[in-house]
Amino acid sequence: MRPAGRGLFVAFEGGDGTGKTTQCRLLVDALRARGVAVVATREPGGTALGDRVRDLLLHSGIDIGPMAEALLFAAARAQHVTEVIAPALARGETVVCDRFLGSSLVYQGIGLGLGMETVRAVNELATAGVLPDVTVVLDVPVEESLRRKHADGELPDTVESRGSRFHERVREGYRGLGSQLPGRVAVLDGTGPVGEVHGRVCAIIDAALRGYGTDA
Ligand code: TYD
Repeated sequence: MRPAGRGLFVAFEGGDGTGKTTQCRLLVDALRARGVAVVATREPGGTALGDRVRDLLLHSGIDIGPMAEALLFAAARAQHVTEVIAPALARGETVVCDRFLGSSLVYQGIGLGLGMETVRAVNELATAGVLPDVTVVLDVPVEESLRRKHADGELPDTVESRGSRFHERVREGYRGLGSQLPGRVAVLDGTGPVGEVHGRVCAIIDAALRGYGTDA
């Protein structure tokens, strides 16, 4: 339950190329247009430390083992929670975060095979109990999401380069995420026109803002 006065914490999740970043931006714009105070942020990133860790993990070419990778994502998350997310929620603002704990459970826990319990244990320390009220998972077939990624012309980063079997495990992990996280987890069809997907997202967030998950 969300305590009275605390802001709503929304996380977007999904494989690479599922349209999370676009949908985060559309939601943030729509909420701001309605006068809702929103902090838009992302992982890995959101802080100076997080941006450095992001470069290290995704673009450095350094060989990083699965446990070190999970710990680095968690270290960036700890800083992000303390510096950005917890203060915004305490001010009563809505936080919209592009990726959070679900990414680690699925990419490191399932994709890399570390196991959800190990990744969860590491992240209990990192999040200190600050968890999303709503997690929106965008579900898109891997073939289509990878095609979208390649179409944007950017070179694939370390995680994107892991091949379609890794990304199939990630997709399956996300489809089962509902039983792994507290709060509401909505797995939405991420295919079809951007505006239609946005409509599906708004329906979930409107319900949450109307009071789902608050004891106010
Ligand atoms: P993302 O920001 O979605 O990538 P981009 O903006 O380049 O499309 O995410 C970066 C990558 O990091 C993505 O492949 C997923 C991965 N990731 C993890 O493996 N574990 C995590 O905990 C997080 C937050 C991200």
